[in-house]
Amino acid sequence: AFRPLVFSGVQPTGNLHLGNYLGAITRFVEMQDTHDCIYCVVDLHAITVWQDPKALRTQIREVTAAFLAAGIDPKAHIVFNQSQVSAHAELAWIFNCVARMGWLNRMTQFKEKAGKDRENASVGLFAYPNLMSADILAYRATHVPVGEDQKQHLELARDTAAKFNHDFADSIGELGLGEGNEGFFPQPEPLIQGPATRVMSLRDGSKKMSKSDPSDNSRINLTDDADAIAQKIRRAKTDPEPLPSEVAGLKERPEADNLVGIYAALSGTTKEAVLADHGGALFSAFKPALADLAVEKLAPIAGRMRELMADPAYVDSVLADGAARARAIAMPILNDVKDIVGL
Ligand code: ADP
Ligand code: NA
Repeated sequence: AFRPLVFSGVQPTGNLHLGNYLGAITRFVEMQDTHDCIYCVVDLHAITVWQDPKALRTQIREVTAAFLAAGIDPKAHIVFNQSQVSAHAELAWIFNCVARMGWLNRMTQFKEKAGKDRENASVGLFAYPNLMSADILAYRATHVPVGEDQKQHLELARDTAAKFNHDFADSIGELGLGEGNEGFFPQPEPLIQGPATRVMSLRDGSKKMSKSDPSDNSRINLTDDADAIAQKIRRAKTDPEPLPSEVAGLKERPEADNLVGIYAALSGTTKEAVLADHGGALFSAFKPALADLAVEKLAPIAGRMRELMADPAYVDSVLADGAARARAIAMPILNDVKDIVGL
């Protein structure tokens, strides 16, 4: 039976955190029953900012271990690292020649990551969204589960697919490679769903929890032990009011909204359901409940990750098998793209 194809990725750039887990990895796990899924450790994205080579190698295995520990099945689906399938880089080059400078100039993530010193950012950091478009479209994937921060990049991927289809419409037609009315590439759809699409920092409710902010020691890492998780939740910045009984009452209360969203995502329910149980509670009562829940859900994953990291040969064999199966899908698509372009 036809099952829609999912692609998504996580960068091996440091500690995986609760935002990556709730915004991305738990969604990856959920989609396995209804979709064919390709989950990628996007190491070529990671090197858009300098990475220590030895640390990078370990982090590639660590993201892989997190995928497996969270419950992704690498036999039923595909788990691999990006640099091992050359179609990503090749298609990204073609997309560098399709996407426009003006489109990339509008990307807010580049502005955030490059900071004030734009002249000194790598060319790769600027062109990053084109590589992301290639990641998805090298498989003609149609569904992309991501956090809210990736919405703008997905829009760019859709624009790039549409421009490619338009610019090469005659060639696509002559070669008989159009799929229905769409052209060669589908329009990939972002799936930004659930109560934790944007987990915020526990010490500053106006900033997202991110691996790229090394100074933020409030971040809950997937490898944290039970004590560290509980302590970070106890110390989370909050306001003095009790929790509201309705979601509307979370407006203008970013810290409360964040903790309720985290609780909902960890327990697989909604913010409404959490407030039905905990509305009226003070944070002195809600935080210990959240800490218990977080430890119950996250500590076993950390344990499985440690076991997997003790067996790097196994992790590497999963990646090698996944890369071979990914190549088998992407290479024929890349060959069609080259024919379409006249290469
Ligand atoms: P980071 O942004 O931490 O450097 P990545 O860019 O590798 O991590 O993101 C991996 C996935 O995790 C993406 O789907 C991204 O949208 C999601 N993600 C990252 N940070 C958060 C967050 N704070 N809340 C929800 N999802 C997030
Ligand atoms: Na991100």
